[in-house]
Amino acid sequence: MDIENVTPAGTMRALVQPSYGGPNDLTLVADHPRPVSPGPGDYVVRVGAAGVNFADVMQTRGTYGGGPRPPYVAGFEAAGEIVAAGAGVDGPLPAGTHVIGAGSGAFAEYMLMPAAGVLPVPPGWSDAAALGMVLNWATALAALRPLGELKEGEVVLIQAAAGGVGQAAVRLARHYGAQIIATASPAKHDDVRALGVDVVLDPSRGDLAEEILRRTGGVDVVLESVGKATFEASLSVTKPITGRVVVFGAASGDAVLTTHDLIFTHPVQVKGLHIGALAKASPSVYQGLIDEIERLIARGVYAPGTPQVHPLGEGPRVLRELEAGVTRGKHALDPRR
Ligand SMILES: NC(=O)c1ccc[n+]([C@@H]2O[C@H](COP(=O)([O-])OP(=O)(O)OC[C@H]3O[C@@H](n4cnc5c(N)ncnc54)[C@H](OP(=O)(O)O)[C@@H]3O)[C@@H](O)[C@H]2O)c1
Repeated sequence: MDIENVTPAGTMRALVQPSYGGPNDLTLVADHPRPVSPGPGDYVVRVGAAGVNFADVMQTRGTYGGGPRPPYVAGFEAAGEIVAAGAGVDGPLPAGTHVIGAGSGAFAEYMLMPAAGVLPVPPGWSDAAALGMVLNWATALAALRPLGELKEGEVVLIQAAAGGVGQAAVRLARHYGAQIIATASPAKHDDVRALGVDVVLDPSRGDLAEEILRRTGGVDVVLESVGKATFEASLSVTKPITGRVVVFGAASGDAVLTTHDLIFTHPVQVKGLHIGALAKASPSVYQGLIDEIERLIARGVYAPGTPQVHPLGEGPRVLRELEAGVTRGKHALDPRR
């Protein structure tokens, strides 16, 4: 099939965020204008499945750095079928190719996706199965390897291990031969144990740091995405000088770290991670992540994802549940339902 030069005109279903009032304000619109023509370097993609991420929640509240201003079509991660390519797309993939990528307005039937960041959906995988590749898995891999410098036999603490990024991190850390200690709300412990982790702790227990130290004697790498509620414990259990704390989220709010802390209380290596910033600032490191993910897929370490897929109109509920911390694993929206 040839690339269509002009996207079919018309309207589409979309979830629009009109305010910074949070997921409750997300509104299903039946006649939102479709992306008319792809800008330079963009594909128009017919969305098959859109990934729901904690960043979507933050965007609805205006707390995501550089996030969109309302009103905007929500969502940014999707997999779907290319229907048109803009000027300047280098070696465009043919129309009909299924790709996974990120762009603005993923919670809709059609979206614009910058061509530079897309990957083909692996052969035989559905769109929904590919969600997480460029976000959850790339983030977890970046945190463990180039930043966390995890080595076989080392101890890794994975906070929020039952979540979208958390479950990817558990699978990767097992593959790399790490000893894993995880945290998750008690209702989710079985999900984490099912991934082969023996020690799963409730992050709200008062003696979290003491218990982790008692069990491990000190942690080499921490994947810290919870922030305020767990940051102090994460620092306390990290081995002085050699230990690495990779910070990539703050689901419970921001934590504060002072120079005094770093020198006298917690002399550890603290590294910040934003996957978009990494891709932009260090394309070769990012390409290394993608290459490794493709190897992991080829070897069956990374199997097709099984997100819980909801109709588009249920997006506000799904985001509310993500915000409340009661979801497990990856969630997705199907704009055709
Ligand atoms: N920097 C990056 O490039 C990047 C990329 C992707 C994701 N992230 C971050 O990684 C984290 C995980 O993202 P995700 O999309 O996979 O979400 P998720 O893990 O599915 O959801 C966040 C989890 O955080 C835990 N949590 C602890 N305190 C919470 C609170 N006060 N409110 C809500 N949740 C709380 C909950 O797990 P428990 O109930 O088990 O405690 C919750 O399920 C998020 O912080 C996200 O912002 C960062």
